[in-house]
Amino acid sequence: MADKDGNVLAKDYGIGIEPPQRIFSVKGHQCAGWGMQGRLSQIFGDDGRTIMLAFDHGYIMGSTAGLERLDLVIPPLLPYADCLMATRGALRTCIPGNHRKAVALRCTADTSVLKDDMSFGSAGVDIEDAIRMNASCMAVQCFVGAAGELDSLKTLSYYVNQGEKYGVPVLGVVAVGKEMERTTRYFSLATRLLAEQGAHIIKTYYCDNFEQITAACPVPIVIAGGKKIPESEALAMAYRAVNEGAAGVDMGRNVLQAACPSAMLRAIRMVVHENAKPEEAYHAYELWRKDVK
Ligand code: R5P
Repeated sequence: MADKDGNVLAKDYGIGIEPPQRIFSVKGHQCAGWGMQGRLSQIFGDDGRTIMLAFDHGYIMGSTAGLERLDLVIPPLLPYADCLMATRGALRTCIPGNHRKAVALRCTADTSVLKDDMSFGSAGVDIEDAIRMNASCMAVQCFVGAAGELDSLKTLSYYVNQGEKYGVPVLGVVAVGKEMERTTRYFSLATRLLAEQGAHIIKTYYCDNFEQITAACPVPIVIAGGKKIPESEALAMAYRAVNEGAAGVDMGRNVLQAACPSAMLRAIRMVVHENAKPEEAYHAYELWRKDVK
């Protein structure tokens, strides 16, 4: 060894001091591997919550409202999001590589809104590309109860197997087809089913008796925003969701189609991370909105 002489003699062994207890707070993942826990920690803060900004819906809807110019619309929102949910094509072209946000990479190849039955998707992005993209998790769309249910659950299993191998979590996305009911019973079944198949995080819609759904799901749930509703109502929905056990939101249209997306994401942040009441957050939204104009 080049410096074997002149080394300061090691003596601080902390004899008698127990190693610190390490607590991992993401629900259901206390026994996950170190790399898996690291990626989950990119997504969830110390409060166990997250704000995902979903701008992946162009992959089935095209240049829908709010997503006409990803390169102009998304970068100003980055300071207020914890995690970016998008396709690799969108990320590579509109987000600079030094963004420092968690990434929920949309990995499935699904059919567009032009199809009557969109439930026959398949694996798209492979795990190597997800790792090259520094994905914090891989998002996989699942159609429970639809004609393509088995295909989508096989795709989910494929990604869970790959993710377990390399320490990359899977975000199981409950997709509601045109014919499917949006009831507590349905979401309860779908969320639990995806978690039992091995998804590490679940994205679903908010519904009545939501606390039963979060209680019965062994991993964190984030809620989708769904179709655009008034800003005050979207904030109230986020508030109810996190107070009924959700670990955060994964919202797209209710941010991107808001009168002022950056003010909306900041207001959602108040609700999710600061436990602000929805009225208080909406008041802040109105003030920030005026500032931006
Ligand atoms: C499934 O999660 C879909 O791709 C969502 O439509 C997308 O993530 C946008 O989210 P939101 O429903 O909040 O607009």
